[in-house]
Amino acid sequence: MKESSRDSFKNSFGVLVAMAGSAVGLGNLWRFPYLLGEHGGAAFIIVYLIAVFFICAPIFIAEFLVGRRAQSDTFGSFKILAPGSGWSIIGVFAIIAVVCILSFYSVVGGWSVQYFCKAVTFDFTRGSSEHLDTLFSGFVSDPYKPIIFHTIFLILTSVIVIAGVRKGIESFTKVMMPVLFLIVILIAIRSVTLPGASEGLNYLFKPDFSKIDSSTLLIALGQAFFSLSIGCGTIITYGSYVKKEASITKCATGTVISDTLFALIAGCAIMPAVFSFGISPGEGPGLVFITLPHIFSQMPLGGVVAILFFATLLLAALTSSISLLEVVVAHLTERHNISRKKAVILSFGLFWVLGALCSLSQGVLSDFKIAGLNIFDLFDYISANIFMLACGFLIVIFVGWKLKGKVIKEELTNNGALKISPMLVSIIIFLIKYIAPLAVITIVLAKFNVF
Ligand code: PHE
Repeated sequence: MKESSRDSFKNSFGVLVAMAGSAVGLGNLWRFPYLLGEHGGAAFIIVYLIAVFFICAPIFIAEFLVGRRAQSDTFGSFKILAPGSGWSIIGVFAIIAVVCILSFYSVVGGWSVQYFCKAVTFDFTRGSSEHLDTLFSGFVSDPYKPIIFHTIFLILTSVIVIAGVRKGIESFTKVMMPVLFLIVILIAIRSVTLPGASEGLNYLFKPDFSKIDSSTLLIALGQAFFSLSIGCGTIITYGSYVKKEASITKCATGTVISDTLFALIAGCAIMPAVFSFGISPGEGPGLVFITLPHIFSQMPLGGVVAILFFATLLLAALTSSISLLEVVVAHLTERHNISRKKAVILSFGLFWVLGALCSLSQGVLSDFKIAGLNIFDLFDYISANIFMLACGFLIVIFVGWKLKGKVIKEELTNNGALKISPMLVSIIIFLIKYIAPLAVITIVLAKFNVF
């Protein structure tokens, strides 16, 4: 497609909220709290923050730069920037990662739809505690119900993506992002003012470094990739809808900071309440869906907080799932020349089937395992620990070593029009060329006990 016929974001603010919308999602509200609960609280947060700022932020900038320079979908971007070379394999890895992620993400998105409906009908505050114990396991293992909610979630995602980049994605995220921040701050205030909340805050902010080992490093890194939406083409694709006037460093900094702040505020919304009610923080993936309803049922104003919380979870999931779907849709429209509507319908079919398999793997298909993992866990594992990391690694190698320093400088300064300190540009190039790839390789090798 020609540049002029491509949809684009209206202005820098539009890009920033869309990217922040992609980043802020289930990763912040569902994955981050349970991972930090399982891996030692504050010490995990510190490792996570180092991974975000020194490894993932440079990868984010590298992806953004590739998309904006090439003005094409993920696969096409490498064909344009390095014609006739094998670099477009990165595009293949990215598509595989996105397909795996959206398949299980839309299932969890469906759970959020269901829990939002339950919150609105005050189901958590009306039922008995035994009812809450079995609610989640009963729901996710049901063969039909979660698939119905998964379908609803996919329809919502598809409707926004069909409307296009500016009219759908940008308009939706512009309204939703401030709302999300506001609600999660309100919930955090409620949580930290509960009796005994200080223990939860200590857990979040007082590190115990003996809890850190090589698998914590890999998990923190994988979570940072997942949370910032890097390593699967979303930032390349969104970057390709950005006009040449926008500042890559400003948008990247804004996104990384908002995503990290949101995760920390989500931690403050959840952990103090968990400690205040004497529940173990290491409950695993059920933390948000099993533990929180218990807490809501006992907390003053719990019914209202539950509605706000599950509304946030659902909306945050939607602003991320649209970015995942957009990667596939951009690929289909630009590489295979089909209309946007057709591309969305085709993708809907694919994700409906793969999502249904992920959903069934929580119940009737739970015995079907590959390498010891059910389909849901397999998709989560191979996307976060293999394809996203491989993609992120290859992208910084590509930008740092194959694209010339001149190209990076041109993009970061918009051909000299932006005043960015040359020192900052050199630091970014250094992080992209050396620190990010070396850190990714070292953490992966450490995990496999190579040292
Ligand atoms: N970053 C999103 C979240 O935190 C998930 C996501 C991953 C979205 C990869 C796009 C690409 O929930």
